[in-house]
Amino acid sequence: MTFTISDTSYSTDTPEAKQAMYADLRSQLQGLVHGESDWIANTANFSSLVFNTMPGLNWAGFYFLKTEDELVLGPFQGKPACIRIKRGRGVCGSTVEKGAPIVVADVHAFPGHIACDVNSRSELVVPVFGKDGAIIGVFDLDSPLPNRFDETDSEGIQSLVRILEQTLA
Ligand code: SME
Repeated sequence: MTFTISDTSYSTDTPEAKQAMYADLRSQLQGLVHGESDWIANTANFSSLVFNTMPGLNWAGFYFLKTEDELVLGPFQGKPACIRIKRGRGVCGSTVEKGAPIVVADVHAFPGHIACDVNSRSELVVPVFGKDGAIIGVFDLDSPLPNRFDETDSEGIQSLVRILEQTLA
């Protein structure tokens, strides 16, 4: 088994540059999860791949619905984070309610934003779906830069999450 996390520095200056980065990330992720169905291993490697490849992040990781109304912290990269988030609370809990990605250009302007890291200025949260199509959790990216994420990032991260979901038993 061979895989390497690319040491390439990626530009995020244009939608085309971002799309090229996500194409590379998809190919690296396919290599990382190939033949592996362990969910903790795959979500841990997913967090590491994204965090160590994408510029301008201070946190990247998962929260999973352990009960109908509460998310619990999963594999992540970055500083220790809040462990439990109620459905409907913060950006993560709101993404569960919405069932679709949320891009927050300025976390200070998002009512109810949960500040795990005071350095976070913008955020992207993407839902993760189970085999039956029901939401099982979210993947959350934080940046110390305002307005770090846009629709291209949302689509790019969703394309990665779709690959990850294929590994669910
Ligand atoms: N900011 C998130 C909480 C999780 S941390 O950013 C890691 C939210 O508002 O849901």
